[in-house]
Amino acid sequence: MHGFYQRHFLRLLDFTPTEIYTLIALAIDLKRAKREGTEQQYLAGKNIALIFEKDSTRTRCAFEVGAFDQGARVTYLGPNGSQIGHKESIADTARVLGRMYDGIEYRGHGQEIVETLAKYAGVPVWNGLTNEAHPTQIIADFMTMQEHIGNRKLESVKFAYLGDARNNMGNSLMEGAALMGMEIRLVAPKACQPDQSLVEQCQTIAAKTGAKIILTEDVAEGVKGVDFLYTDVWVSMGEPKTVWDERVKLLAPYQINQNVIQLTQNPNVKFMHCLPAFHDMKTTVGQQMAAQYGLTNGLEVTDDVFESHYSIVFDEAENRLHTIKAVMVATLSKD
Ligand code: CP
Ligand code: NVA
Repeated sequence: MHGFYQRHFLRLLDFTPTEIYTLIALAIDLKRAKREGTEQQYLAGKNIALIFEKDSTRTRCAFEVGAFDQGARVTYLGPNGSQIGHKESIADTARVLGRMYDGIEYRGHGQEIVETLAKYAGVPVWNGLTNEAHPTQIIADFMTMQEHIGNRKLESVKFAYLGDARNNMGNSLMEGAALMGMEIRLVAPKACQPDQSLVEQCQTIAAKTGAKIILTEDVAEGVKGVDFLYTDVWVSMGEPKTVWDERVKLLAPYQINQNVIQLTQNPNVKFMHCLPAFHDMKTTVGQQMAAQYGLTNGLEVTDDVFESHYSIVFDEAENRLHTIKAVMVATLSKD
C-alpha cells in the first residue's frame, strides 16, 4: 500500500497520525469485507514467519487467520524447536528468514531484538509484543474506540489507563495517544509510571498534536469524565514471580471495580483490557493469586466489571484480527 509498502511495524512513533488513521480505516474496510464475504486477497503466494518467544492466543491467531484470509501461508516458530535464541544470533536468523519469507512477526523480549531483526531481514518485520511495546494492540484498541464513538474523532477521546503503566501497554498507549491527539491519564503509583524519557518524548509530540498526557496517582481525579477505562495485568510475561508481592501491594488501589466505574461520572464509560486478564477466578493463576492476596473478586479488574455491559474486551480481541491483517496487507501489498 502506498507509503507503507515494505516498511517495518516496530513502534507507533515510527508513524504519523495520518498513517495510523489509514491503518484503522483499512482494518475497518477489511472487517466489513470479511463479514460481507467480499474480501479480496492481497497476499496470495506470500509466506510469513511467526516467531513467538512468549506465549500468545490473540496475536498468534490474528496473524495466522489474517494471513489465511488473505491467501498467505505461515510458519510458527515457538520458544523451542528452532535455533533462535540458542545457537544462532538474531542477525543471522533475520538474514535466513528474510531469504525465505516475505514478512516476519516477532514476539519476545527486548525491543532491541525486533529492531535487530528488522535491520537485517530485508523484509517487513512486525512487532507482536516486546517488553517495551505492543503496537499492534494499540491499533486494535483505537479501532475499537473509533467504533464506539461513532462520528467523533479519536482526538476527542479521553481515557484512563490504571495499573502497571511502566509496561509495554502503558508505553504504547501513551505513544498512540500522543500521536493521535488524545487525552490519556496514566493512573498509577510513581513506581509504575512510564520511564521519564519516554514521557518527555511523548510530551514533545503532544505539544504538536494537541494530546494531553496526564500522570497521576489519584484514581478519582484520573478517571473523572473519561470515555474509556483501560487496564492490563499487574505482572507481565517474562517478569519474575518475585515481583507479585510488591506489585499487588502497589496496584491494589488501582483495581478497576464498580467504585471506579462510578468515579468516572460517565454512565456510558467503556471498559477495555488487551487480555489475557487475571480477573478470572476460574483460571489457576486467578485462583492462586486471589487466595494469596485475599482479593476475592478479581485482580486488575473485578469479575462483575469484566462481565458487565461496560466491557468491550471481546470487540477489542476480535479487532486484533482486522488490524493485524491491515498491517500485513499495508506493508506487503503494492496496491
Ligand atoms: N493481547 C494480546 O497480545 O494477547 P495474546 O497474548 O493472547 O497474544
Ligand atoms: N503486559 C502484558 C501484555 C499482554 C498482551 C504482557 O506483556 O504480558
